Amino acid sequence: MSPEPLLKAADIQARVLELGKNISSSYKFDMVISILTGAFIFTADLCRAMPSKDLQIRFIKASSYGKSTESSGNLKVSGLENLDLKGSRILLVDDILDSGRTLKTLVEMLKNEGAADVRTCVLLDKKDRREVPIKADFCGFEIPNEFVVGYGLDFANDYRSFPDIWTLTEKV
Ligand code: IMP
Ligand code: MG
Repeated sequence: MSPEPLLKAADIQARVLELGKNISSSYKFDMVISILTGAFIFTADLCRAMPSKDLQIRFIKASSYGKSTESSGNLKVSGLENLDLKGSRILLVDDILDSGRTLKTLVEMLKNEGAADVRTCVLLDKKDRREVPIKADFCGFEIPNEFVVGYGLDFANDYRSFPDIWTLTEKV
């Protein structure tokens, strides 16, 4: 682990509040779709930063990493089959944009399921790692090309409960 957090909990909270305000004032959507597992904490905080009685929140699961800091490249998606997306405007929320494959694939899948509009929101963006062309509509922080954990992000399912975001220095 890095000796100091890359992003402290208080700075994350402040940025998430700002993001919630920006999104509420610029995008009228029907449903938040959050990508498990990494985005669960970010989604909880983001939704509370844009409170509304009828805000709909759904979860789908996508995984590609397994027990490594490098994506395996083949994306497993589940939970989409239970959603009725026809004509809906969606805010798709993920923890981090890396190669871009997860978000790009999911945006296409949601559109194929009949979504009228899909905009994306990520807490973190590792711009230098992009392998497919995609830009998040809303982004919390741009970060360097390093593997990070905490605030929902894991390495092999560890570290998710850490309130700050840390750089993992020993790679596997
Ligand atoms: P992409 O498909 O390469 O853009 O990868 C995105 C997914 O990989 C995210 O949803 C994360 O779950 C995971 N991921 C990418 N980078 C990191 C990282 O630095 N720490 C933890 N998970 C990561
Ligand atoms: Mg993920």
